Amino acid sequence: MVSAPIPDRLAGRTPAFGAENRGSNPRPGAPVRGVFLAKVERVSQTRPAAIVILAAGEGTRMRSQTPKVLHALAGRTLLGHVVHVSRTLHPDRIVAVVGHGRDQVISHLADIDPDVATVVQVEQNGTGHAVRIALEALEGIDGTVVVLSGDSPLMTTETLMALVQSHEGELNSATVLTATLKDPTGYGRVIRSFDGTVEAIVEQGDADDDQRAVREVNSGMYAFALGPLREALNKISTDNAQGEEYLTDVVALMRTASLRVSAVSAAHPDEILGINDRAQLAHAGQVMRDRRTRELMLSGVTIIDPATTWVDVNVDVAPEAVLLPETHLVGATSIASGAVIGPRVTLVDTEVGENAQVRDATCELAVIGSDATVGPYTYLRPGTTLERGAKAGGFVEIKNSRVGEGSKVPHLSYVGDAEIGADTNIGAATVFVNFDGENKHRTVIGDSVRIGSDTMLVAPVTIGDGAYTAAGSVITEDVPPGAMAVARARQKIINGWVQRRRPGSSSARAADAAQGSASTQTPDE
Ligand code: UD1
Ligand code: CA
Repeated sequence: MVSAPIPDRLAGRTPAFGAENRGSNPRPGAPVRGVFLAKVERVSQTRPAAIVILAAGEGTRMRSQTPKVLHALAGRTLLGHVVHVSRTLHPDRIVAVVGHGRDQVISHLADIDPDVATVVQVEQNGTGHAVRIALEALEGIDGTVVVLSGDSPLMTTETLMALVQSHEGELNSATVLTATLKDPTGYGRVIRSFDGTVEAIVEQGDADDDQRAVREVNSGMYAFALGPLREALNKISTDNAQGEEYLTDVVALMRTASLRVSAVSAAHPDEILGINDRAQLAHAGQVMRDRRTRELMLSGVTIIDPATTWVDVNVDVAPEAVLLPETHLVGATSIASGAVIGPRVTLVDTEVGENAQVRDATCELAVIGSDATVGPYTYLRPGTTLERGAKAGGFVEIKNSRVGEGSKVPHLSYVGDAEIGADTNIGAATVFVNFDGENKHRTVIGDSVRIGSDTMLVAPVTIGDGAYTAAGSVITEDVPPGAMAVARARQKIINGWVQRRRPGSSSARAADAAQGSASTQTPDE
């Protein structure tokens, strides 16, 4: 009845978090399990036989086209967070109950963790009905099953471990994870008898005034012994305010059958927050943000304003990096030691090297080398690489281009589809004219090149090492190494034009004053 360990764990091997382990290391069936092994297990790490994740509900209160559990929080979906924490317990199986938007949910699960089994709940007749369907996929399996909600993404490994340990240690049939909330509205209330034992869980809609006053709530997360759970689920009814099969009713049913039911409190009440609407989604986002920034600060990252610093769960920030206010680090971004990011920076899937500086910038799928500088007001688009010490300055946009070591694009430029060598300077307001109206073309620029301000580089074009272009040039042909390319009209002076064509104007008066008299016009035109 209690979960037994698998032999390799007794030999001291902790199963790794990885598909190869999950796939090739199925837990043996019930016959190998025994009380003796379970006792050995309890002193070491506990792991459940299965985890069931409920994710079939519609999530009406989100008012969304997207299934509720696929809404994002800090770089993972709500369901992704629940799958992730589930994996940290190393269960033998994870079964997700899907229903509403199931095609999307199933394909998302296949992306993030293909070893999660799915069962379909065609009509959402309640949490009890959902678990009953899930258990069909766990036929012949005994031990502990943990039930989690796909809409409760803040749960931690520590709390779930404590839940399983206490459940197995006390030989309970059910152990409810609870929390005491300031405002318990909407949650099922935990009803205890005079001696403190859990008697029942009563849903908000079914509770009387005394029961509603209880602030200890059901998290919607539980550990169950599979056998007693199966029996209890066969007895639940739909005789309640919502006309659904409540999973929570198994608590009272087990009590009636004189089975042990107990409760464990979450380490922090935030961990149990369930997301039913977008206000709760935002609140959970703040909780996640605070957790993440705190974790980073304790690891040696300086964060000036944690309230405006958002770091996704998969972002890597090395100690001694500095994050200034309004920094958003998204996706698979990584920041090396000594880098200074912000203020006002959004980095998506971007890699930043040691001691680089990025301010007032938006960068996506870019690689910013060590000692490179970016910003302010800079946009680095996918495929941009700045080599060591390179610069992308103010009002510069770069895409699909490599800027070589120590090279600079300091001001007001567009660089697209280019290869730029080392120690090259791109003058202000240069445009890499990469699009001919139909197709994109590449520009190749060598080392130690000096591109004059306001040069148009009409691709495809190659500028050799050490070459110059004159300011204002429209370069349409290749420039050999060491050459100066001038491609603009020669300047022409028409003396006295202003005094003749704009007589009496302030410009004419200024010109007259500069030239000492009104009679110095030269009939030159
Ligand atoms: C549930 C609990 C409540 C607890 C709260 C914690 C019941 C009856 N109530 O209420 O005691 O305080 O969670 O957040 O269990 N789902 C299915 N199939 C269904 C119905 C729901 O898969 O037929 C899934 C939902 O997608 C969701 C989870 O189960 O992920 C919880 O369902 P929800 O309707 O949100 O339950 P609550 O009303 O929040
Ligand atoms: Ca809920």
